[in-house]
Amino acid sequence: MNIAADSCFIGQGPDMLDRFNSASAWERADAQWPNHEQRTLICARVSNETHDVRTFVFHTQDGQLFSFEPGQFITVSAEIDGKEVSRCYTISSPPTRPYTLSITVKRTPGGVMSNWLHENMKAGLALKAFGPSGVFTPSSGPAAKSLYLSAGSGVTPLMSMTRAALDLGPNRDIVFIHSARTPEDIIFRKELSTLCGLSDPLRVIHICEALGNEPDWSGPVGRLNLDLLKELVPDFRDREVFICGPGGYMDASRKMLLEGGHDPARYHQESFNFAETVECAEEPASTTADQTERTERSEHTGYTVRLARSGREFTMDGTQTVLVAARKAGVPLPSSCSQGICGTCKTKVLEGSVDMKHNGGIRPREIEKGMRLMCCSRPTSDLVLDL
Ligand code: FES
Repeated sequence: MNIAADSCFIGQGPDMLDRFNSASAWERADAQWPNHEQRTLICARVSNETHDVRTFVFHTQDGQLFSFEPGQFITVSAEIDGKEVSRCYTISSPPTRPYTLSITVKRTPGGVMSNWLHENMKAGLALKAFGPSGVFTPSSGPAAKSLYLSAGSGVTPLMSMTRAALDLGPNRDIVFIHSARTPEDIIFRKELSTLCGLSDPLRVIHICEALGNEPDWSGPVGRLNLDLLKELVPDFRDREVFICGPGGYMDASRKMLLEGGHDPARYHQESFNFAETVECAEEPASTTADQTERTERSEHTGYTVRLARSGREFTMDGTQTVLVAARKAGVPLPSSCSQGICGTCKTKVLEGSVDMKHNGGIRPREIEKGMRLMCCSRPTSDLVLDL
């Protein structure tokens, strides 16, 4: 794989060291980074978490602070083998340490971005990224007592929440149950154990499916089930649950909690499994009703879409999403999930109207301001976009 042209070696330089020693640098509060704005991040360091998981720590090119809610994600982009590839990764660092931002990435077989990051990203290299987004955050369910459930690399948003909670004080009542394949696959194992030593109410429990190379593992073996949950966390019904992991794990856990009498209103899961995201935007899955509507719309062909800032223009019919039509016209727009979930393709419609069917990637107040998600919006008139 080729290192992207935009990932040239920049070097850490003396700037960050100067800022570290400068009293005024600590007073900065200009930390806004909108999720539709792409910025350049500089890799500060890379560390191994397990045999196939690495943490990549970044700072901004201009020394601006990061601002985000624990649990949010960023969308990183790189040119890999001549193609622009975008991928969402949850932030593993806490917002309480705003000078750097970390993503923790598991190398997946065939994963274009994860393999590229593992093979190429190192201190001094640049990476482009869209600003933080996502609603899987503690503010979606404020509570005095939490239960964090994660499996595999789903640990990352919950790690950001745990680090932030402890940075703000040692008294948050959190039970964190993480499931891994084997003990050597446990991400952040050492740090979580250290954090437990710093906070009495924090309890971390690891469950492994198999012993792997650690036959003397003394923790629970197998999968989380209701009997085990009742034994480990007798007051689980009183806790706000936050869960992140593979789709099958989240489905099974949700069922288990319901069966155990946990209030579903106090259940929050990462709405999308980013690890399984397709890397090129395709048409979102459609229903028969959608198809009928599109057939009717296809009678009106030739909508013009004009990008106000770049001055580019293309035509499309009403059956395709703006994102797909733009791509076909050779006008790449920012995108990641292409399912109306991540918010990366959020764009202001300056003129005209679209029919949007999203999956939570945009907030009502953003819609009121004229923003739309291009990956799940089809034109119903000519359009002028703020791009
Ligand atoms: Fe994720 Fe459009 S690309 S919401």
